[in-house]
Amino acid sequence: MSRIALVTGGSRGIGAAISVALSNAGYQVAATYAGNNEAAAAFTEQTGIKTFKWNVADYDECAAGIAKVEAELGPVDILVNNAGITRDAPFHKITKEQWSQVIDTNLTGVFNMTHPIWPGMRERKFGRIITISSINGQKGQFAQVNYAASKAGDLGITKSLAQEGARFGITANAVCPGYIATDMVMAVPEKVRDGIVAQIPTGRLGEPEEIARCVVFLASDDAAFINGSTITANGGQHFV
Ligand code: CAA
Repeated sequence: MSRIALVTGGSRGIGAAISVALSNAGYQVAATYAGNNEAAAAFTEQTGIKTFKWNVADYDECAAGIAKVEAELGPVDILVNNAGITRDAPFHKITKEQWSQVIDTNLTGVFNMTHPIWPGMRERKFGRIITISSINGQKGQFAQVNYAASKAGDLGITKSLAQEGARFGITANAVCPGYIATDMVMAVPEKVRDGIVAQIPTGRLGEPEEIARCVVFLASDDAAFINGSTITANGGQHFV
């Protein structure tokens, strides 16, 4: 029986590349999405990967959605916490709502998804929690107080889970992508984006597949001794 992977935000951007790469590597994949029905339907049609709709910011929706996935496919062995949003604004302009939306999705969403799945992983003595953080959780970013805080928090969750899960065969690791060619980065004003690319020694944005390959490795048995770590993939823009 192939292992089962659940990828949040798995029908678009980096998440779609992760879903496809895990499927190609032999996993049974379920991809969640929050709102874009058309993109999810097109993704399923193109890839054959099942999609499920719920909001990771809502604990009860996560618990119910995970139960549905497990009823259809079986227990989740690999959880990829990828779903994330931006609400960029300089700190003097940011609203409480922009703060909360990003924290609720990018940080609390990781809790909401991992918490219902964790007991089963402990019982089965195997699990992989792979969380997509960000270069901006490592270095901070102008106009991203909310996003940088959420992504730095994801690293804290990861390092804590790594310690709690180790004796149950569960690893928890993070990937910190730099600027990747997705809708999220394309939404940055072009002039600002050009300035960002100029700061990347590799001289280009990353490709979603370059992040997906990191995830496939962390999910594999070959990565069993890698726990609590962060893979940084940012074209040399920032060293940690
Ligand atoms: N450093 C220093 N100053 C900066 C700056 C920076 N990085 N970016 C903007 N500024 C300055 C501007 O030059 C401007 O200064 P002046 O007022 O003197 O002209 C000021 O800050 C911006 O003021 P505005 O009133 O114009 O700002 P705004 O309310 O219109 O907001 C913005 C614009 C949201 C900051 C926009 O520039 C932006 O989107 N920047 C990109 C932020 C970014 O990198 N987001 C990452 C998105 S991708 C992602 O998050 C994925 C991932 O994980 C990597």
